[in-house]
Amino acid sequence: MRQPAHGGNLAWAAALAGCPPDAILDFSASISPLGPPNSAIAAILSQLGNLKHYPDPNYSELRLALSHFHQLPPEWILPGNGSAELLTLIGRELAQLAATTLITPAFGDYYRTLAAYNANVLECPLSLVTGHWSLFIDKGQRTNDKGLLLNNPHNPTGKIFSRDSILPYLEQFALVVVDEAFMDFVPPNEEQSLIPVVQEYPNLVILRSLTKFYSLPGLRLGYAIAHPDCLAKWQRWRDPWPVNTLAAAAAIAALQDTEFQQQTWAWLPPARNQLFQGLAEIPGLQPQISAANFLLVESEESTSQLQHQLLKYHQILIRDCLSFKELGDRFFRVAVREESDNQRLLTALNSVLSGK
Ligand SMILES: Cc1ncc(COP(=O)(O)O)c(C=O)c1O
Repeated sequence: MRQPAHGGNLAWAAALAGCPPDAILDFSASISPLGPPNSAIAAILSQLGNLKHYPDPNYSELRLALSHFHQLPPEWILPGNGSAELLTLIGRELAQLAATTLITPAFGDYYRTLAAYNANVLECPLSLVTGHWSLFIDKGQRTNDKGLLLNNPHNPTGKIFSRDSILPYLEQFALVVVDEAFMDFVPPNEEQSLIPVVQEYPNLVILRSLTKFYSLPGLRLGYAIAHPDCLAKWQRWRDPWPVNTLAAAAAIAALQDTEFQQQTWAWLPPARNQLFQGLAEIPGLQPQISAANFLLVESEESTSQLQHQLLKYHQILIRDCLSFKELGDRFFRVAVREESDNQRLLTALNSVLSGK
């Protein structure tokens, strides 16, 4: 079986570990361990009788729920079959520009969509300066005929860019796409979403996903926030019912589940801190500060070897970073899980790295 280029490939991990897939403790996919919310599951069950009807192609109820959630008119929001579907539409849009500046290391699906439409890609690497990732876009290059694609908080580094640091790019680039798949994890008083300014910038597209925060990767629900003319055009490009009835109902329930949202914001900071401190105490490992529900860790040892040993001896799966060519074999990424699972990972890492 081929090495996966995405987290969460349990069949591959189970084959290596010699155990059933559900025995693997998965730190490779950056999905909240608290979900899915019961409210979302109940909403799915309540809609089973409606499977005999087509969904509303305008997704009016879902758009209204999103419109309340983000305080935006519904026509500024387009739900999709995961943010991956919307990324495909974005790839087509970006390919019409002279080039797209892509901040790297980048989520692998950006390469897929840009390549699918033969977009011209200009990679712009983040630099790691004294343990902090920084973004420098060459001010000398012409940008008003180009797009910019970045993600915030950034996967895989966990770096959060302030809203103010992104705003100047909106004046420079023809189109700016900010993928905020992990922004929900940032508590409301600290978040740096560009949603509050989207109505001021017709060249801004924001992508959100219910996959990570609500732990619903199998449901496929994401949405784009952008100027209504752009979203209406994308609606004409795609099939009429990309979001199924169950996903639409679950999304409405999840967005209204303030208790689940509060629980998540209460869980993450102490659990992430516990994992960060534990990793920092292991000789040869250097975790990096993260605003998201995962940590990128620099390792003195080969991380593919570490990954194989954790699987073989502890049935634990971490995400190697081989698919991020800028990171290679000296970095791995782990999701933050509940404290007992985090402790299991720390104990296993200590044991593997000390050769015990
Ligand atoms: C940065 C980023 N954006 C988008 C996605 C895709 O999310 P979805 O499940 O909504 O397609 C992922 C999933 O790994 C991701 O890491």
